[in-house]
Amino acid sequence: MAAFQRHQMWSRYVSNENTILLPKDRQPVLRVIPMPKDANVHGDVFGGWIMSQVDIAGSVSAMRRAGGRVATVAVNSFVFKQPVFVGDLLSIYADIVKVGRTSLTVAVEVYAERQRMEAEVVKVTEATLTFVATDENRRSRPLPPA
Ligand SMILES: CC(C)(COP(=O)(O)OP(=O)(O)OC[C@H]1O[C@@H](n2cnc3c(N)ncnc32)[C@H](O)[C@@H]1OP(=O)(O)O)[C@@H](O)C(=O)NCCC(=O)NCCS
Repeated sequence: MAAFQRHQMWSRYVSNENTILLPKDRQPVLRVIPMPKDANVHGDVFGGWIMSQVDIAGSVSAMRRAGGRVATVAVNSFVFKQPVFVGDLLSIYADIVKVGRTSLTVAVEVYAERQRMEAEVVKVTEATLTFVATDENRRSRPLPPA
């Protein structure tokens, strides 16, 4: 797709969406910019690439709380609210929302700064994932006390 056509498409999405600010009181677990290799056949960012970034961000929070390795056991929900474009700056936030005996559930939110411009911020994805603390034999283990 020609750069001009891509820009027109991008402008259409921007004009349709509500611009917000990045959360000021929280630190993102990950910040990442999708590259052309991460695009799907239509030129937008591939959903599977976004899912892997969400899994990575969620696992960082989970590993910290678990004090070691974790495995993703379930993706409970995943909503792509807005498209992501090559060149957006993504900020990915992760919060532990539930702690069990061996598992913990993490809510992940992804915000995009369109073309890396702070003035154009949109929430693009929301997901919740469950991780299980595992030992060196990949078996579940109890979470340490908080
Ligand atoms: C993770 C794994 C070791 C858990 O095995 P297990 O201990 O026999 O599983 P259990 O059924 O006893 O469940 C363990 C915990 O996960 C939770 N869990 C299991 N399936 C779940 C699901 N579908 N949704 C939410 N939570 C789930 C259980 O409720 C339990 O939580 P708790 O201990 O806090 O009460 C095993 O399922 C596994 O190896 N899965 C593959 C992981 C993987 O390869 N992920 C992709 C790459 S990281």
